[in-house]
Amino acid sequence: MPAGSGIAEAAGVLRAGGLVAFPTETVYGLGANALDARAVARVFEAKARPRFDPLITHLATADDLTELAGRLPAVAQALAERFWPGPLTLILPRPAAIPPIVTSGLDSMAVRVPDHPVARALIAEAGIPVAAPSANRFGQLSPTRAGHVVAGLGGAVDLVLDGGPARCGIESTIVDARGDRPVVRRLGALPVEELVEVVGPVQVDPGNSGQPTAPGTLAAHYAPGTPLRLVDAADAVPPPDGVRRGYLALRERPADGYAAVEVLSAAGDLTEAAARLFEALHRLDAAGVTEILAEPVPDTGLGRAINDRLRRAAATWH
Ligand code: TXA
Ligand code: MG
Repeated sequence: MPAGSGIAEAAGVLRAGGLVAFPTETVYGLGANALDARAVARVFEAKARPRFDPLITHLATADDLTELAGRLPAVAQALAERFWPGPLTLILPRPAAIPPIVTSGLDSMAVRVPDHPVARALIAEAGIPVAAPSANRFGQLSPTRAGHVVAGLGGAVDLVLDGGPARCGIESTIVDARGDRPVVRRLGALPVEELVEVVGPVQVDPGNSGQPTAPGTLAAHYAPGTPLRLVDAADAVPPPDGVRRGYLALRERPADGYAAVEVLSAAGDLTEAAARLFEALHRLDAAGVTEILAEPVPDTGLGRAINDRLRRAAATWH
């Protein structure tokens, strides 16, 4: 769908308290009017998401944040100037205008300005902050295409805007920017190395304990419906006869014998690999295999976010 078509209708649905799934550069979001607690409650229901897991508020421009929250802490200001619009979410004090249901009662709020023409046009046209988690059922694979949203949430959504495949393919990087030293709470589409260039050393503390403050960092999350196991490429022997296994590789196909194989990037390019990760997992999940074996990728740049998602997917099946 070209940017522009359907936007006015979708903005009307949001203003009226409805749910609109929309493309962002990271993954598809399931949006509701962040100022309307009833609309936000419908998001939790549609996703079967626990109420303790707070949502990200999406704005059309960084200026809208100043209007909503006043002056930003220095670190947040520097990060917003450099990376917005883009795949960075900042944790800041919650402004009074945002109802507590959005933040699960926390006195902090997660906020970002997405870099996608459809998302920005939608939010600007609606003229409201838009609370939006990823448009999947809680704990399952994130959607990188409109078709994933329809398959996962179907009738629970009032309208789905199709903006084609998501460019980054992995969720935003979440940074707590309330103090002098930023803390990364979720590894994501903005590599830590790029944050460091702007603000110096950062602490990376994505946690894995199921702490209620950042459940996107639950140890078990982002999971396909098929059991997933991490393997070293060197240990990946062909499956026994009659066993249907799937295989997720970074660059090279494994030995013959797998029922379904996905190669994330033949060139070993981690940006391409991130963009294809969830799509590949969705396909392996649909391939009728009893188990998916997945190779970790080099743990630098976007590779850290990819490995983070693979580990959490694998943890679901322990
Ligand atoms: O790329 C993205 O961030 C996508 C697109 C749609 O913008 N959204 C997304 O939302 O991934 P969701 O709900 O799937 O993940 C949001 C994460 C959750 O792990 C949540 O716990 C965390 O953000 N979060 C939200 N508010 C928070 C807060 N105040 N403090 C700590 N973590 C927070
Ligand atoms: Mg999510």
